[in-house]
Amino acid sequence: MEKYVIQGGKPLRGTVEISGAKNAAVAIIPAAIMVRGVCRLENLPQISDTDTLLHTLTYMGAKVNMINPSTVELDCTHVQMDVLPEDMWVRTRKIRASYYLIGAMLGRFGRARTTMPGGCNFGVRPIDQHLKGLSALGADISLSGGFINATAKNGRLTGTTVYLDKVSVGATINIMIAAATAEGRTVIENVAREPHIVDLANFLNSMGADVRGAGTDVIKIRGVKQLHGGTYALIPDQIEAGTYMAAVAAAGGAVRVANVIPKHLECISSKLREMNVEVEEGDDYVLVRRDGPLHPTNLKTKPYPGFPTDMQPQMTAVLCCAPGVSVVTEGVWNNGRFKYVGELKKMGARIEVEDQSAFLQGVDRLTGAVVRACDLRAGAAMVIAGLAARGETKIEDIVYIERGYQDIVGKFRALGADMRCVDEPDEAQADPACVSAG
Ligand code: UD1
Repeated sequence: MEKYVIQGGKPLRGTVEISGAKNAAVAIIPAAIMVRGVCRLENLPQISDTDTLLHTLTYMGAKVNMINPSTVELDCTHVQMDVLPEDMWVRTRKIRASYYLIGAMLGRFGRARTTMPGGCNFGVRPIDQHLKGLSALGADISLSGGFINATAKNGRLTGTTVYLDKVSVGATINIMIAAATAEGRTVIENVAREPHIVDLANFLNSMGADVRGAGTDVIKIRGVKQLHGGTYALIPDQIEAGTYMAAVAAAGGAVRVANVIPKHLECISSKLREMNVEVEEGDDYVLVRRDGPLHPTNLKTKPYPGFPTDMQPQMTAVLCCAPGVSVVTEGVWNNGRFKYVGELKKMGARIEVEDQSAFLQGVDRLTGAVVRACDLRAGAAMVIAGLAARGETKIEDIVYIERGYQDIVGKFRALGADMRCVDEPDEAQADPACVSAG
């Protein structure tokens, strides 16, 4: 199996270009099903999750024309439902964002049939708020044989007011997509405010929708009959940028993290500064430098603009190397999302997890080991730990990392890291806690 091999301990230097946002791409590609005409998407990340979704659209009858590796023209004028073969459902099910097909199909066809979503396995991932919102818009929903079936009464959804009981990125996006072509006005209250929610709203609006308030906690949508073609460039990936910033903090050195929106990185930048890492903001880049010892700190994840849960494993890896006591508390996923700490312990990390918090006693240096990527961001944490560690680290199950990081090996090698991808049999001892769902 393919794995990453890292000889750690080399400081990182140079410039890294951040790709388009994964979580924006996995919402915008399904939303393109509702567009009648050619929709050109620029700054798309080249990762396996976007490949899978583009394949799904191709099977549905979309014309998918790659203009260059990060630009695609999609023509969904003639897409159909009920045409995906079983093996395509098996692939689609592996990504969490497949649930956006429900909102998009309901918006386009007035009915939907999709598989129950998979994605990274960090605990129970309910979709009750998605279903509540879509039902409120007039969809009859039933679950059977691992599939979700939904039908809009009278063939079209109807605008209404929906209050989300839990701030959910996925539910906000799904309801927003479905409501874009519903009859009348929809108000969604207590919504998530992540940058990719604003990006999706901007995408929908540039295709003729009328979505207002994205980025605040109330979104108002006036439904339009249909969406038309257009061109849209996705925002840069906040989490990919944060991952490279964290890697510099752990391994030391000085890196210009380019093609970013510094405002989206503010909470990560401030946390790194508390840890004795210099972060200087430019217009579309941040300069990250770490020469001295890391300082310990505490952090708690929260919905945006709070500290992102998708940066929690990477920051835990950095804090393992900060002498002193740090506490990392997970405030979004209620199982703590700490399945990966056993892997960091194999590298000499001193961590104890209790309920929603990890208590860390930083060490001077981690030591290379054979570890596994338990999920996408946990895998990124292993890369960071490997870059900082003394000796060789091998990371297995890298398929999870490649779901969300474009050319991670090439990008780190360009910064001077000794990292390569090799194909050899697995060696890591299976840790039952570190099992990914796909
Ligand atoms: C999205 C991101 C994921 C990130 C998460 C939180 C995508 C493809 N994935 O996931 O990387 O970790 O946001 O920033 O964009 N919840 C419910 N009922 C629901 C939906 C969610 O109780 O119907 C709960 C979840 O269990 C969790 C919390 O709400 O505790 C946040 O989940 P949500 O924001 O929906 O995460 P995802 O959209 O799945």
